[in-house]
Amino acid sequence: MHNSNVLVIGCGGAGLRAAIEVKKAGLNVCILGKRPRTDAHTVLAAGGINAALANLDKKDSWQQHFADTYLEGYGIGNPLKIEIMAKEAPELVKEIDNWGANFEKLKNGKLDQRYFGAHTYRRTCYSGDFTGLSILKTLLKKADELKIPIYDDQYVTDLLIKEQICFGALSFSIFSAERTVYLADSVILCTGGHTRIWKKCSSRKNENTGDGYFLGLKAGCKLIDMEMVQFHPSGMVSPEEIEGTLVTEAVRGEGGKLFNNKGERFMKNYDPIRMELSSRDRVAMANYNEISQGRGTDNGGVLLDISHKSKEFILEKLPTIYKQFLDFQNLDISKFPMEVAPTAHYSMGGILVYPENCSTYIEGLFAAGEVAGGLHGANRLGGNSLAEIIIFGKRAGLASVKYSKKSNNHIRSLKSITLAHDNINQYIKNGNEEVRNLKHNLRLVMTKYCGVIKNKKLLKEGLNKVEDIKDKLSDIDLRKNDNYAEDLALVFDLEASLVSATATIKSAIERRESRGSHQRSDFPKIDNENSYNCIVSLDSTNKKIEISRENVKPLSQNLKMIIDSSNRDEDIQDKLLE
Ligand code: FUM
Repeated sequence: MHNSNVLVIGCGGAGLRAAIEVKKAGLNVCILGKRPRTDAHTVLAAGGINAALANLDKKDSWQQHFADTYLEGYGIGNPLKIEIMAKEAPELVKEIDNWGANFEKLKNGKLDQRYFGAHTYRRTCYSGDFTGLSILKTLLKKADELKIPIYDDQYVTDLLIKEQICFGALSFSIFSAERTVYLADSVILCTGGHTRIWKKCSSRKNENTGDGYFLGLKAGCKLIDMEMVQFHPSGMVSPEEIEGTLVTEAVRGEGGKLFNNKGERFMKNYDPIRMELSSRDRVAMANYNEISQGRGTDNGGVLLDISHKSKEFILEKLPTIYKQFLDFQNLDISKFPMEVAPTAHYSMGGILVYPENCSTYIEGLFAAGEVAGGLHGANRLGGNSLAEIIIFGKRAGLASVKYSKKSNNHIRSLKSITLAHDNINQYIKNGNEEVRNLKHNLRLVMTKYCGVIKNKKLLKEGLNKVEDIKDKLSDIDLRKNDNYAEDLALVFDLEASLVSATATIKSAIERRESRGSHQRSDFPKIDNENSYNCIVSLDSTNKKIEISRENVKPLSQNLKMIIDSSNRDEDIQDKLLE
């Protein structure tokens, strides 16, 4: 047993930022993670972090950042959440730079800002093409200075709940399978998304398997807009083992151009004004169209070229990408173009939270970062995810402090702890199915039936296939030997992934329109008459995923005026699929 005031689950940027705030307030906090702390998915947000600092483009403002984010999310993001991010980003970006992130500076000492897709102005602050890594290292250093314990070998299988109040979690060591009950006054989920369940994705092994969604649903939380999965326009196409690995948007931000196999700069056909700096959904769709209509390369990609820039420039701005292509393809990108294709990159939906304090439907349970929904709507602007983790990580930390300080009763339930143990025990037995095969099959199913373009027939078939895999999960072979902890983690990953896949497919069936990253060939138009969010809940009696619609949160008068007067000349209602 372990006791703390606050328990943080997930040791990426959001979790670290939350824990720092708790410790600074004088409370005990500990962080659990299932992957090495220095290698969280945070490092995959490589190209930068947004803040309307107006260091280069004087007209930029939080209002413009708000308008860009809201409109590019196709009007279904939570306006308050977006407003908070746009307003707080400048201060918190400067703070993390001062803490040691050491972003690139201009000659006048102010932070440099690069272009990222669909931002009206240059507002993306950066460290070369390793911004997420700089931020993660800085937060780890700070956590170390504050002596925050991080146990990054812990797989959390259940949140402990009594009467809709969360009082901790049960976990096991991914090395020894030894179990620990973590008791806490409040718990913050910062467990990332679920994009690893697609075959081509930017997530590494064992991350973004949807665990946080499953933990949240089981505890009684709701999820929002799970169908909104962002396909990043550029993932590597080969070698197969690393297919989907991110090629940062910073390549396009620094002048990279896209070509098809005819040598045509095809973005002129999709967004002639913004070209390669169009929004992610549009560029991803353009790449997808070119490839699927036979204008791609033999390896199934399009060409992204930065070779018109000098080698010195590339080494300064894009050192990681330069090395990545040399390491994996022996390709010198200062001389040759890169082959890229869309890759599942970011879950824009997630746990439904109150924006101000990141609280959920369950008392004492908070959620921040990619696991939480509501900020990005139907399409995320690159660079907003790093802003999100530090802003809402901090807010979740502060809110958990406030909650923990006022909770006098230490809620505990032996029954809940016993049930959580039983939940692990049920899987340890002989069976006929191998977890690795089932995981692999799920990734193939999601890619084929719930990919960039969807339709009802595909989605229904996909759902049946997910159900088949679910049935097989109960016949899994998991023998208690010296190494069974690793397999146990894989089984829980798979269970969470299956639930997340079901939530995603069912939400995608429910959303009968095309909007942003959600593209349906049978409903190719956006439904402007009905702007809604898809809400997911888990029926506690029959354990089935249920979907309902909720009207989007309306804009306040003030925010509406900001949108109406924002400096944007394009019609966001454009449909992508024509
Ligand atoms: O392309 C990128 O560097 C990714 C950034 C992001 O996801 O925010």
